[in-house]
Amino acid sequence: MSAYLPEVEAIAREAGALLMEHFARRVVIEYKGDVDLVTAADRASEKLIVERLRSRWPEHDLVGEEGARSDTGADYRWYVDPLDGTTNFAHGYPVFCVSIALVRKDEQLEVGVLYDPTRDEMFASERGQGARLNGKPIHVSQTATLSESILGTGFPSHKRHKNPNIHCYHQITLRSHGVRRAGSAALDLANVACGRYDGFWEFNLNPWDTAAGALLAQEAGGTVTRFDGSPFRLDSREVLASNGLIHQELLTNFAEIFAGRGLEELPSPVEYAKTRG
Ligand code: IPD
Ligand code: CA
Ligand code: CA
Repeated sequence: MSAYLPEVEAIAREAGALLMEHFARRVVIEYKGDVDLVTAADRASEKLIVERLRSRWPEHDLVGEEGARSDTGADYRWYVDPLDGTTNFAHGYPVFCVSIALVRKDEQLEVGVLYDPTRDEMFASERGQGARLNGKPIHVSQTATLSESILGTGFPSHKRHKNPNIHCYHQITLRSHGVRRAGSAALDLANVACGRYDGFWEFNLNPWDTAAGALLAQEAGGTVTRFDGSPFRLDSREVLASNGLIHQELLTNFAEIFAGRGLEELPSPVEYAKTRG
């Protein structure tokens, strides 16, 4: 086991406990954008994680979603999402996590730790060492076709009027067992890693959302790319992750959707209203 994992897991667990303390109290919401929320819990969790990481590995750079930055050109950089799923958290919906990743200067993902304090689930991975959930090895699912798959996706809170994902959501829903929209991209990727989802996609994500989850999915045997099949990179923003077995089928389906070919039309709500008794 890596020298990093036990210590990073301990930090993620501590931050998760802090989130649960806040979760039990009334949450005061502030806005970063029109529906882009932030709470005291996001900030307190980031402060805790950043203090721990900086004191243990002062030589590494760091990027935290809530503003923490060290940028010295170091060989390694931490990406910290202190609370992924803030909107869920703020509304009392218990689907959120802490996500911490270590990335090499050349963007190689090295360590990914993701802790879900609501289920006490610790996902951990290190490059070349596989992925674990609460200490036990995890693997992606064996589902071989899109039509038998369950998938996840997400919708951003930033520039949401520019996001085309509702069309993908509609088409892939009709071609699979269904698409879930749980509200935590990091957990969505972890759910691909442990086989609860057969695939996940989203547009407009940031490195702190994806770094730990992408490594988990890859180390659990999955495939993570962009929508054109090119390798996922931290600055890709878009991500398409799967168990590998359905990846080509997903790429073909997304290519068709982006080309506007073979699309089922969205039923009209106006027509539906006319047919109601
Ligand atoms: C958000 C969540 C959500 C995704 C958004 C992210 P946050 O992160 O991961 O599932 O759809 O795009 O911004 O703001 O809760 O850390
Ligand atoms: Ca996030
Ligand atoms: Ca966040």
